[in-house]
Amino acid sequence: MQYISGFGNECASEDPRCLGALPEGQNNPQICPYNLYAEQLSGSAFTCPRSSNKRSWLYRILPSVSHKPFESINEGHITHNWDEVDPDPNQLRWKPFEIPKAPQKKVDFVSGLHTLCGAGDTRSNNGLAIHIFLCNTSMGNRCFYNSDGDFLIVPQKGKLLIYTEFGKMLVQPNEICVIQRGMRFSIEVFEETRGYILEVFGVHFELPDLGPIGANGLANPRDFLIPVAWFEDRQVPGGYTVINKYQGKLFAAKQDTSPFNVVAWHGNYTPYKYNLENFMVINAVAFDHADPSIFTVLTAKSLRPGVAIADFVIFPPRWGVADKTFRPPYYHRNCMSEFMGLIKGHYEAKQGGFQPGGGSLHSAMTPHGPDAECFEKASKAKLAPERIADGTMAFMFESSLSMAVTKWALKTSSCLDENYYKCWEPLKSHFTPSSRNPARPN
Ligand SMILES: [Fe+2]
Repeated sequence: MQYISGFGNECASEDPRCLGALPEGQNNPQICPYNLYAEQLSGSAFTCPRSSNKRSWLYRILPSVSHKPFESINEGHITHNWDEVDPDPNQLRWKPFEIPKAPQKKVDFVSGLHTLCGAGDTRSNNGLAIHIFLCNTSMGNRCFYNSDGDFLIVPQKGKLLIYTEFGKMLVQPNEICVIQRGMRFSIEVFEETRGYILEVFGVHFELPDLGPIGANGLANPRDFLIPVAWFEDRQVPGGYTVINKYQGKLFAAKQDTSPFNVVAWHGNYTPYKYNLENFMVINAVAFDHADPSIFTVLTAKSLRPGVAIADFVIFPPRWGVADKTFRPPYYHRNCMSEFMGLIKGHYEAKQGGFQPGGGSLHSAMTPHGPDAECFEKASKAKLAPERIADGTMAFMFESSLSMAVTKWALKTSSCLDENYYKCWEPLKSHFTPSSRNPARPN
């Protein structure tokens, strides 16, 4: 697979079978090279400042408008109804979400989408949704596009071969991809496949500002990869289905040709992928903890300075070297809501129960922290430099919005762990009122 490197750059790509497909010196010639149609895909208002203005020009065999009318379809478990069940402030944890078994039940990426939680409104372009995808079948002659927002896709089990209007991407577990609003894509899978999706409405993901860290670090722009132009001129008379998520509902339209008919494109509004192994970790090297914002890969900003609609944060393998410090995450209560997932391995603050393909939600101001076993062990540990999280990758979708949980998450999935609260029950008081200085382990 070939890619273009960089984040948010102005790029240009032609399928090598049709060199010169990009018009020279203008976007919209009277007749395009190779008799293609020109089509603009706008990802921002026309009048956005230059720094946030996003659009791409696609040169294609037929324009996207060549389709029959959209009709509502009842498929999958997508919802943006945040009032299905009563609010629940408890710490929530889910066992690994079960993937349907093929061939008994064939499920593709779209029919396998399940909304877990979310907040806000697609109509006012403010909010987010967290989905789980569980599938075992390729989409075939079906593609999907989202009118509501951007998908940040985190595959956990099974790789995804993603056909997009901009070209093809192979995304494996421990990589992520972002498919922005309006972009058509179709996913091929090779086994029982599972993953997580962070959807944000009305904004796009950005690299976080680095402040005093300087010009380099965290996710470096050159490690983001954009597909190169690839097209198929494939007739599927009446047999290709375009699925659209619009205001939280799914609609389908038929067309006669493959939508992956873009011979060349240019612009700065594209899908992209990123390998989490490339994240340059910054951490405390003397004592105490930096806040987990130090692990932010991508952020979708709200209009309030420093406050995100959602951040995508990872907890990668690293060294723990802090002296005289309780090294696991501290106990805390947060005005933000924290959904966590696990791609592989074991998460450092929980000895068991939080498994790859499962998840947890600690909502606004709901207390959480290490389980009792982790606390006892870390309080007594000898503080030599040690590897943390080797062979694991936990992540967090953190939002400033207070999220509602869906009926599927709480009931239908049958994956909710009713005993989660018990991991903190063995926590006991170590208070020694007569002695200020407890014996240290070393
Ligand atoms: Fe937390």
